[in-house]
Amino acid sequence: MALPPIFDRLRLPVIGSPLFIISVPDLVIAQCKAGIVGSFPALNARPQSLLDEWLDRITEELAAWDRANPDVPAAPFAVNQIVHRSNDRLEADLHTCAKWKVPIVITSLGARPELNDAVHSWGGITLHDVIDDRFAHKAVEKGADGLILVATGAGGHAGRLNPFPFVQEVREWFDGPIILSGAIATGRAVLAAQVLGADLAYIGSPFIATDEANAVDAYKQGIVEGRAADIVYSNLFTGIHGNYLRSSVVAAGLNPDKLPESDPSAMNFGGAKAWKEIWGSGQGIGAVTAVEPAAVKIERLKKEYAAAKAALI
Ligand SMILES: Cc1cc2nc3c(=O)[nH]c(=O)nc-3n(C[C@H](O)[C@H](O)[C@H](O)COP(=O)(O)O)c2cc1C
Repeated sequence: MALPPIFDRLRLPVIGSPLFIISVPDLVIAQCKAGIVGSFPALNARPQSLLDEWLDRITEELAAWDRANPDVPAAPFAVNQIVHRSNDRLEADLHTCAKWKVPIVITSLGARPELNDAVHSWGGITLHDVIDDRFAHKAVEKGADGLILVATGAGGHAGRLNPFPFVQEVREWFDGPIILSGAIATGRAVLAAQVLGADLAYIGSPFIATDEANAVDAYKQGIVEGRAADIVYSNLFTGIHGNYLRSSVVAAGLNPDKLPESDPSAMNFGGAKAWKEIWGSGQGIGAVTAVEPAAVKIERLKKEYAAAKAALI
């Protein structure tokens, strides 16, 4: 199936994924101007009233960019909603998204038909993130337009499935947009995601090492210095399994090789400590060599993608 027309404006088949605390308007705007979808979790705008200001600014700045650059219009942006009982802002945040007719809503940790209906009512589309084929079926049954397959090695909350069978199995029955997430950090890997059967790549951790990211310098540097072996998979910090930078676990006085298991009922996505002190990261960061403007990173991805494509022909 062809991608929905909303993706026509992309100049690289990539969504800059939503990053708790880290994704702020500066990063989202830079991503969209450079031609990839920029996104942020609604919960990053605190207090709730700030969400309205953020959406106002993002909408205005992207419209101004489009007026000045009609030949390279900005890519659309996305807002991520955590659809979990611990999120008591969901209704208010959706209301604000409706006001600004947010073009893409990314839902995580729960699929709800009424939420999909609401987004469709203002002309938006929904993408739901899932960690296996069973959840993928559920999300589509409940009305999601596209699926984000969060494979093993992804930063933050991550699945356990290898991307090869994961994309293969979902593609067998789903012909809508598939976005592959997990340790994608080069243009070559973006192309690989498409060769596997995905439409777009979902890239998170590399954008932590950008000037625009809302992260302390030591975290950004940790992404630059880290490699796949420096990532620890644990459910201790939020109750859900995720990938974190080993150095931050050590700095918190814990032994990364002997972390206790957590009770899933301890799930607390908004627990800032987990993300402020224990730093989320995917396994793809070996490819990240510098903290730089997001636009510079995206231009490099575009060159790598074009070179990889040319080499295949
Ligand atoms: C620090 C951090 C915070 C994240 N926060 C969120 C979030 O708030 N909502 C969400 O849907 N995904 C979140 N994710 C997951 C990403 O959206 C995405 O699946 C992941 O970054 C992709 O893998 P990569 O980091 O290897 O590129 C987070 C990931 C990281 C690294």
